[in-house]
Amino acid sequence: MIGIFDSGIGGLTVVRAVMDRLPGYDIVYFGDTARTPYGNKSSRTVVDYSLQNIRFLLDQGAKLVVMACNTASSVATDTALSRFNMPIYEVITPAVNQSLEISKKMAIGVIGTRATITSGIYEKKIHEKAPEARIYSTPCPLLVPLVEEGWLNKPETRMIVKKYLHPLKVRQIDALILGCTHYPLLKPIIAHKIGKKVAIIDSSMALAEEIKAFLAENPQVDRELSKNGKADFFVSDITPQFEKTARAVIKRNITLKHVGL
Ligand code: DGL
Repeated sequence: MIGIFDSGIGGLTVVRAVMDRLPGYDIVYFGDTARTPYGNKSSRTVVDYSLQNIRFLLDQGAKLVVMACNTASSVATDTALSRFNMPIYEVITPAVNQSLEISKKMAIGVIGTRATITSGIYEKKIHEKAPEARIYSTPCPLLVPLVEEGWLNKPETRMIVKKYLHPLKVRQIDALILGCTHYPLLKPIIAHKIGKKVAIIDSSMALAEEIKAFLAENPQVDRELSKNGKADFFVSDITPQFEKTARAVIKRNITLKHVGL
């Protein structure tokens, strides 16, 4: 079983990508809807929550874990890898790798929550591989609540996206990393506002590709993952709005199950 967690339901964009690239693999998802958002919490709190979430997924039978949340990936990866002896994926590295493959000018933009951008993780990882790269990052704190409200194509959302992207646009980036679970849902607007010359890097797709390649190279791990096309979706709080947004994100009629951690 592949275990995937996020601070809420935005991580279903990653589930969607994993289902698309690895059809049939059983999935257990945990969305920490009771404690969302993580993006404006301290690193210490996000690390604690992330470790609890991983333990829950392991108890459900996960043999490979994906931290779908960019904020958790930014601050909790090292601790998670040191605590658990199993494949744990984060969403930063696949996006970094893809941006470096795609960007010709080595001028890369990054958008994410405040916690992700403040962590400087994208700059660090990009510069490890390409010290010459110019990176321009900007937090976009209003985008998560807009997506949660389902305001995916409202004039107000378009205006806010335009405002956030302006400082990156003037830097003439040629690749833009969507460093947050929720942003793939705004991809049409983001692509339109940033312009045709900028490649949009959606970390969920990049991640799913990376897991697929890993499993092809590591059949002993692949054998441990059950493949009955089953998917369970757990959340730490359920409201009608969460259910509505969850269905809109994953584009299928799923049932959320409540679990208290
Ligand atoms: N899942 C978070 C991320 O990808 C966004 C929502 C939150 O702030 O918790 O950074």
